[in-house]
Amino acid sequence: MVKINENYLKLKAGYLFPEIARRVNTFAENNPDADIIKLGIGDVTEPLPQACCDAMAKAVDEMRDRATFKGYGPEQGYPWLREKIASHDYQRRGCDIDASEIFISDGSKCDTGNILDILGDDNAIAVTDPVYPVYVDTNVMAGHTGPANDEGKYEGLLYIPITADNNFTAKVPTDQKVDLIYLCFPNNPTGAVATKEHLQEWVNYAKSVDALILFDAAYEAYITDDSLPHSIYEVEGAKDCAIEFRSFSKNAGFTGTRCALTVIPKTLTAKASDGSEVQLWQLWNRRHSTKFNGVSYIVQRGAEAVYSEQGQAEVKALVNFYLENAKIIREKLTAAGLTVYGGIHAPYIWVQAPEGLSSWDLFDKLLNAANIVGTPGSGFGAAGEGYFRISAFNSRENVNEAMKRITENLKV
Ligand code: MLT
Repeated sequence: MVKINENYLKLKAGYLFPEIARRVNTFAENNPDADIIKLGIGDVTEPLPQACCDAMAKAVDEMRDRATFKGYGPEQGYPWLREKIASHDYQRRGCDIDASEIFISDGSKCDTGNILDILGDDNAIAVTDPVYPVYVDTNVMAGHTGPANDEGKYEGLLYIPITADNNFTAKVPTDQKVDLIYLCFPNNPTGAVATKEHLQEWVNYAKSVDALILFDAAYEAYITDDSLPHSIYEVEGAKDCAIEFRSFSKNAGFTGTRCALTVIPKTLTAKASDGSEVQLWQLWNRRHSTKFNGVSYIVQRGAEAVYSEQGQAEVKALVNFYLENAKIIREKLTAAGLTVYGGIHAPYIWVQAPEGLSSWDLFDKLLNAANIVGTPGSGFGAAGEGYFRISAFNSRENVNEAMKRITENLKV
């Protein structure tokens, strides 16, 4: 009889966002006239930049013609896209990253999960609490944890609280040695941003204990203060201890188009059990070319257009549009007496639930009374209890209407 991966049985209920969708769908079925506004999952709403659409249309035309038709591309991505990313996103900001160290993929969610394929099973793993649930769930699936306790924390993971008290920045665990650390800045879900000094502390720690940092920079385009680091490689020493994930989803609106990238510097090595030094780039390259056939030519041409002059202007306008939404959300909720964090360098606003309401209480209250969907903070981890995440991804009209309804229902 076939055996299943029993680690899946340890997972808590559903993945957070499908679970929210399930509750919202049930509500919508029972209340067919409700005008529900969704500020839950961080999914973009505005159309793709014109430059990306034009580039993809041109690529479709190329596919029509035998002379320009493309079959399989390089699994790692086309060189013209990798080169533009290397020079624009990295070298321009002083990071010594080469195009060959960039792997194009169909999403950071997939990459942050898949990266576990090349890592061992007995690493000591640290995550922040709250945290993007994919980092935790993929480790549970891979058998890297024990069962979850009543608070929803999995045995064997080190949870580093990020709270208002520490300005939502994860404190380096100087009293323990971890091997693998997940960091996400600008942070999902709290919207906090890291300074260069803070990232330097992590890099210094990782180097001192031979740990690997998995740095998720999916929201870097939302950084509004240019002195803040967009990449972990802006920090000295990071090329020896960090992998970075980036995406075209939140800057260019590719959530439905799918294109992302992972950077694995060739200087990044780990020791095999026989003591030999192994390049992580080599392992990922092997994994990528075995299990992945690359992102479609058409989509990569669309991503390349992000780096054109027109593309840059259009992406900036998109990001500014969502940041203006975030500002409206912050201001309206603050004026209503709520305590809010984030939303300045990130499209997420982290709201403290009014006294006496749990995260899910607030979710139910806003869904039932105001027909607004947000994300319960506790869905991101035990330390998220008592918080609620509101996403700035929606039309201006919906954001204004949502703020009107929320503030009417939640005046404190
Ligand atoms: C979120 O809402 O946290 C995002 O949609 C996460 C993601 O991009 O997968």
